[in-house]
Amino acid sequence: MTVQTAAAPTARTTAASAGDDKNRIIIFDTTLRDGEQSPGCSMNLEEKLKVARMLDEMGVDVIEAGFPIASNGDFEAVREVAAIVRNATVAGLARATLRDIDRAAEALKGAARPRIHTFLSTSPLHMKYKLQMEPEAVLQAVVDSVTHARQYTDDVEWSPEDGSRTEPDFLCRTIEAAIKAGATTINIPDTVGYATPEDYAAIFRMVLERVPGADGIVLSAHTHNDLGLAVANALAAVQAGARQVECTINGIGERAGNASMEEIVMAIRTRPDAYPYHNDIVTQHIMKASRLLSSVTGFQVQPNKAIVGANAFAHESGIHQDGMLKHAGTYEIMTPESIGLTKTNLVMGKHSGRNAFRTKLRELGYDDIGDNAFQDAFQRFKDLADRKKELFDEDIVALIDDSVAQEYDRIRFVSLGVMAGSIGSQSAQIVLEIDGDTRWAQTGGSGPVDAIFNAITKLVPHEAKLQLYQVHAVTGGTDAQAEVSVRLEEGGKTVVGNGADYDTLVASARAYIHALNKLLVKREKTAPEALTA
Ligand code: KIV
Ligand code: ZN
Repeated sequence: MTVQTAAAPTARTTAASAGDDKNRIIIFDTTLRDGEQSPGCSMNLEEKLKVARMLDEMGVDVIEAGFPIASNGDFEAVREVAAIVRNATVAGLARATLRDIDRAAEALKGAARPRIHTFLSTSPLHMKYKLQMEPEAVLQAVVDSVTHARQYTDDVEWSPEDGSRTEPDFLCRTIEAAIKAGATTINIPDTVGYATPEDYAAIFRMVLERVPGADGIVLSAHTHNDLGLAVANALAAVQAGARQVECTINGIGERAGNASMEEIVMAIRTRPDAYPYHNDIVTQHIMKASRLLSSVTGFQVQPNKAIVGANAFAHESGIHQDGMLKHAGTYEIMTPESIGLTKTNLVMGKHSGRNAFRTKLRELGYDDIGDNAFQDAFQRFKDLADRKKELFDEDIVALIDDSVAQEYDRIRFVSLGVMAGSIGSQSAQIVLEIDGDTRWAQTGGSGPVDAIFNAITKLVPHEAKLQLYQVHAVTGGTDAQAEVSVRLEEGGKTVVGNGADYDTLVASARAYIHALNKLLVKREKTAPEALTA
């Protein structure tokens, strides 16, 4: 069995290879692999395909689509992403075993440009406690795994996991062995986010100086944000010779996350004096990508997040506003337009039709909404416009995020009736569509939210514990829409669901249902036979 080889790489990857264009940075996106592994970020197949299409469209060079051996869901996702992506290279992750690599190769069979990314821990701590392997056995496994992967494709990436805490001589030996065995990209992860920019840059300089053949392959940075240094570390590695950065949209990823793609790309774009490098990312797609990811995962970015946070281009203080009116450059180092954030003038109200709604969505960066999500959001927008005096962009963003999030869910909200107040008991009657069947239940509870969650649980029995229930108003005023977040925990794994509606109780039901849908996806990923990298 042979995967189609990367005999004719795209302009994207060729240009970045050593010697071709020395200042081009390969953008390797791992939102669908390292990002999706993190709590609250699991995606189902259709959601992953949406994200993959968007990444391909925005100019990402390599899309790491998943870890095929981890679960059947991961395998399918890599296979389907490989089939639809036409420009980017598609990578599948594999541990250093023949079985993992065979499975990755199988999943990548349909890819125009397949890459097998294989990894093995090399730090003393990981070798002793995690692998329980001697260094010489690790070295042999590196050679065997890379050699095996090369039988399937000539695009093989190798990563020494916990590379930044690996003993320097051993790191150089393993990298040299991987290059000799045929690795074309060497990725040196700061797996636990421990390195400082100076440490991390020194590792890349050392590898380039000491490892024969290191100047003939692509060196790659993979950084985690445990100390808030992921982006700084990735950029330091680039300055020291790395020509690939591994990153995720919105910086999602294990623990504190991975390096955020939008931050790396905009740092390079905004400070060419400090970072004289380039890449093919169409920065005007950044906001759209960020919003799509938030809506499919239900994982919102913090308001003060660099580049894509709601406040990133907001100027509240009088002095700043005055400066901005005189010259935008006084307080803005990049334009909102450069990340696809257009100032919208289209005022929406109850008389706005489908066309105006579609145009508004485009202005807000949502130009790839599926038909079902669009119809649902349009209907809900009309209902909202009937009830709310002023409609703001935030209202529409909340609605569309909610509709997109539900589009492929197995459990869908249909209707809710609630008895609440201080007279008599509280009860809820809920109607849901579960795998296409309409079902209803009625229960009581101590308060309306408890009654709603009990009614949903009656239809979708589960053992998950409610860890967090949070409401916030999307805009000001008593007619504001409510946005509810719900966190559920089952067997040590957490999921987050969001729901928006002008009725807080409906928003609560939607959020709970969204969380349960995420739990169904999570169960497969965390089944006893499933793995994570
Ligand atoms: O952080 C890490 O070390 C990883 C590897 C699997 C590349 O994600
Ligand atoms: Zn990682």
